[in-house]
Amino acid sequence: MTKVRLLGHRQNRAVLHDLFPDTVATDGAMLTLGGVSAAELVAEFGSPLVVMDEATVRASARAYRETAPEALIAFGTKAFPNVAILRILAEEGIGADVSTLGELRFALAAGIDDGARLVVHGNNKSDAELAAAAEHRSLLVADSLEELDRARAAGVERMLVRFTPGIEADTHEAIRTAHHGSKFGLPPHDTLEALRRAPELEGLHVHIGSQLLTPGDAKTAVDWIATFAAKARAETGWTWRTLDLGGGLGVPTNEDESALPIRDYVGIVLEELERACALHRLELPSLVFEPGRSLVARAGVTLYTVGSVKQVASSTTYVAVDGGMSDNPRPALYGARYAALLANRADEEPTEVYAVAGKHCESGDVLIDRVTLPAGPRRGDLLAVPSTGAYTLGMSSNYNVTPAPAAVLVGGGSARLIRRRQTLDDLLALEA
Ligand SMILES: Cc1ncc(COP(=O)(O)O)c(C=O)c1O
Repeated sequence: MTKVRLLGHRQNRAVLHDLFPDTVATDGAMLTLGGVSAAELVAEFGSPLVVMDEATVRASARAYRETAPEALIAFGTKAFPNVAILRILAEEGIGADVSTLGELRFALAAGIDDGARLVVHGNNKSDAELAAAAEHRSLLVADSLEELDRARAAGVERMLVRFTPGIEADTHEAIRTAHHGSKFGLPPHDTLEALRRAPELEGLHVHIGSQLLTPGDAKTAVDWIATFAAKARAETGWTWRTLDLGGGLGVPTNEDESALPIRDYVGIVLEELERACALHRLELPSLVFEPGRSLVARAGVTLYTVGSVKQVASSTTYVAVDGGMSDNPRPALYGARYAALLANRADEEPTEVYAVAGKHCESGDVLIDRVTLPAGPRRGDLLAVPSTGAYTLGMSSNYNVTPAPAAVLVGGGSARLIRRRQTLDDLLALEA
C-alpha cells in the first residue's frame, strides 16, 4: 500500500490530500481509508456511504486536549450526532454540547453522563430540556431572560448566559450567530440584566459562528467579552468563573480554502484571553470550548457511486451520483464547495472539468459545480468527497423518500458499522 499518493492531482496533491483523513492512501488505483479499500467498503456496506476515520477523530481530540488541558472540551454534537463517535471522544476526555433532548440521549448513551462534561444549549428550550439539565446537573447556557427564570425555577444550578456582542463573523450568513439581530443569545444590556437578576450565574458564553478559517473574529470575540466582563464587574459587582467560547473553527472543504490547525487556533485564543484579562485585571476564568466541525469534518469521506454521465452544454457534463442534498445539504444550503476524486481511479490524471449532480428532484441538487476528474467518469465508478464528516449526515433528510446512508468507522485495516443504513421499511413504518 502506498502512503498517500492521490496521483492525478499533481498540482494540488498536497492540498487535496490535506482535505482527506490522516490515514488516506492508495493501493494501486484504489483509494484506501483506515487501511480499507473504498471498493471493499462500498461492496460490504453499500452506497452512498459515510466513512469516518478513527485516527483522525482521535488526533483532533488530542490537539484540543493538549493545547488547552485545563479546559472542558465539549463536542458540538450537532456536527455528527453518533453514539460511537461520542464514545471515542469520551475516551479522549471530551464531553458533549447538546441542544436537544435527542442529542442529550445520544451523549448519555455514549456514557457522557457526568454533568461536569455536559453543556445544554438551545434558543428555545422546552420544559423537558430544562428538567433534564437539572437532573443531570449539567451546565446550562441560558438564551433569554425568560428562560433564565424558567431554568432557575426548574432547579438548574449551573448556568452561563449566552452573550451576543454584535460581531459579523467572516462566514456564510446562515452560520453567523453573534451579530446584532441574531436569534441566539442576549444583547449586552439584557446580559447585564441577567447578571443582576441571577448573580449566581457562573459565566458567559459566546459563539460567533461556524466555519471560521482565520483567527481574527475569534480574537475580536475574546476582546469583546473580556471588555464586557470588566464592564459587568464595574456595574454589578459580578465576576466570571467560567467562559465558554463555543465552537467555530472551520475546516476546508476544497483546495481554495486553507486550514487553521487546531493547536494554532486554540493557542491564539488562549493568548488573546490572557492578554485581555491582564488588561482588564480580570481573573482567568475556567474555559469551555465546544468544537463540532473541527473534531469530525476531516475524518469523514462520503463515497458515492456514479450513475448517469450526461453532457448538457459544451462546457457542462453532469456526473450524477446516488445521493445528493439528502445526505449533504450544505452546497444547496450555503453554497459550500467540495472537492472530489474517483476513488477507483485515483492513479489517473484529472484532466476534465465536471459537475457532480445529486439524484434529487431539485435543480439546486448539485453537490459540486466544478471538479476536475479523470476523463470519462463511468457508471459504477466511485466518487470520494472528502471533509464530509460534519453537518452532512447530521443534517440529512429523507427527501424523495430516500433512506439515509450508513456510516462506518475505519482504522487498522478494518471497518465497522456505526450507523446502519435506513431502509424503505423504516420510512414506511412511520406512515399511518
Ligand atoms: C452554541 C454552539 N456551540 C458549538 C457549535 C459547534 O460549532 P462548530 O461546528 O463550528 O465548531 C455550534 C454550532 O452551531 C453552536 O451553535
